[in-house]
Amino acid sequence: MNVESKSKVDVLDEIAAGERDALPGAEFVDAMLERRRAFWESKPLLERTHYRGFGEVSEETAHERLRIQCQAELFAAQVPHQMLELAPWTEIKADLARQVHDEYRHFKVVKAHLESLGGEYPKDYLPPVKEWRELQAIAYSADMLQSPDHVTQLLARSAVLQFGIEGWDVEFIHPHFMQHIETHDPRLFELFETEIINDERFHSEIGERILKKCDRNRDMQRVAITYLGKAMQQHHKVNLAFADFAADARPFAV
Ligand SMILES: [Fe+2]
Ligand SMILES: [Fe+2]
Repeated sequence: MNVESKSKVDVLDEIAAGERDALPGAEFVDAMLERRRAFWESKPLLERTHYRGFGEVSEETAHERLRIQCQAELFAAQVPHQMLELAPWTEIKADLARQVHDEYRHFKVVKAHLESLGGEYPKDYLPPVKEWRELQAIAYSADMLQSPDHVTQLLARSAVLQFGIEGWDVEFIHPHFMQHIETHDPRLFELFETEIINDERFHSEIGERILKKCDRNRDMQRVAITYLGKAMQQHHKVNLAFADFAADARPFAV
């Protein structure tokens, strides 16, 4: 990490502590990107992803991993659905409405793939990895945030899902994951390539557009900083837990 990026990360701590004024929107986005990168770069390579258990695994693990992916798509639909009600910005509402549609479509595509392999997705399915359910709970409930302020509730959810999870997926995970499944599961590769990846890039950009709305507003920036921190800490636990879940999986080269 260079000196400039370290100071950007420190600036966020000072804003969160109320010790300095908030940044202009674009600078805030840059500092948050830097923080996300610095967090993950401080972890060993194989602890940076929960995309494990695809391709060259037992049939049981492959089916379970696809069920987890189906449920993840539903989760990624339901959170922006909540946010749609909370957003005070019309153009962001349009983006969120698109995301809700995209994610339900991803669910259908992944479920059809699972079924084509002989697997099933039960209606009452819950993913078997507790840490992953806990990360989702932070996004669903904004960690039991009691704020009556809709923008605060929206920011917390966006910092967890769109910026924390999806943004990191797009920046780091998907390139490596795609390279891996291109060889080990070409059908899944094609589905991601044609139906999912471009949408995910858009969802990640929504996270950045929402952060930009925090322009020079310390209260808003503090919420986003706090919830990105919670999301990343929990996501790291998720990644460790997925390594146990998919112990028979061949880790993709990162
Ligand atoms: Fe998705
Ligand atoms: Fe998404």
